[in-house]
Amino acid sequence: MEVIKTVDLGFTYPDGTTALRNIDISVSTGEMVAILGANGSGKSTLFQLFNGLLQPTSGEVFVKGLRVEKKNYKAIRRMVGMVFQDPDDQLFSNTVKQEIAYGLLNMGVTKETIPETVGWALSVVGLEGYEGKSPYALSGGEKKRVALASVLAMKPELLVLDEPTASLDPKGVAQLVRLLKKINNELNVTMIFAAHDVDIVPLLAEQVYVLNKGRIKISGATNDVFSCKEIIRSNNLRLPRVAHLVELLQRDGFSTPSELPMTIGQARRLLESETENHGVDRHDDQDI
Ligand SMILES: Nc1ncnc2c1ncn2[C@@H]1O[C@H](COP(=O)(O)OP(=O)(O)OP(=O)(O)O)[C@@H](O)[C@H]1O
Ligand SMILES: [Mg+2]
Repeated sequence: MEVIKTVDLGFTYPDGTTALRNIDISVSTGEMVAILGANGSGKSTLFQLFNGLLQPTSGEVFVKGLRVEKKNYKAIRRMVGMVFQDPDDQLFSNTVKQEIAYGLLNMGVTKETIPETVGWALSVVGLEGYEGKSPYALSGGEKKRVALASVLAMKPELLVLDEPTASLDPKGVAQLVRLLKKINNELNVTMIFAAHDVDIVPLLAEQVYVLNKGRIKISGATNDVFSCKEIIRSNNLRLPRVAHLVELLQRDGFSTPSELPMTIGQARRLLESETENHGVDRHDDQDI
């Protein structure tokens, strides 16, 4: 089942800036999809069209077959959880607890169940005990997690994450990658995210779309897209570091895996199968 689908979608801002043209995207249940593109390529604009924060200038958006239009906004906003690029655009309550409870109350959840759900959402993002803190008195990374917790509490079917790792420290990035995988696997939440950090993309996404000046330049399975090195670079992106290293070693005449690995885990598996180095003690959680 398609959770989100856009058909020939276009969007022009009131000042005449055309941010998106002819966008056809399709994400099925349980998939994790990345949208890549340089600054200003249209990623955040696209996301705001998914739940009606912006309305298409041309074309259409469907969420589980429901057209994104005013009469369906309520149903659609229940299904689509949006974590904004800048948490300051999202957080507005006096306490973390109120912040997370707000969406739940709006959904008509009974008051008695709220403390438990708030506690659950905070524990998922690793912020147990933060209920009484002011969202404004948190660090950038903590704000991001509270914004994610407030969306997760509503148990969305589709999680839309705009630059989820921006402003997180390296440990925070690794934790978030594991957390998003867990949410996807265990809660079966479909995800679409925008990222500048290409190293996390092959760890999370099965499918990738590359935007440039509002158009899709290439899309497909993550490894296939990153294997088109010239297209990646001409769209102001780069390869994951591991792939870049293997590419340089290849150029210098070293013996390297026949395929370009995109993650540390892939590199280890390829090296292990192509050399005699079987049975080494591997820890996949060292991928990041
Ligand atoms: N409110 C607005 N009014 C007019 N133009 C806008 C507005 N918001 C964004 N734009 C323009 O639309 C285009 C796409 O912007 P958008 O924010 O979607 O890009 P992005 O891919 O999310 O970039 P970034 O990686 O910097 O977050 C840019 O040219 C931007 O200048
Ligand atoms: Mg953006």
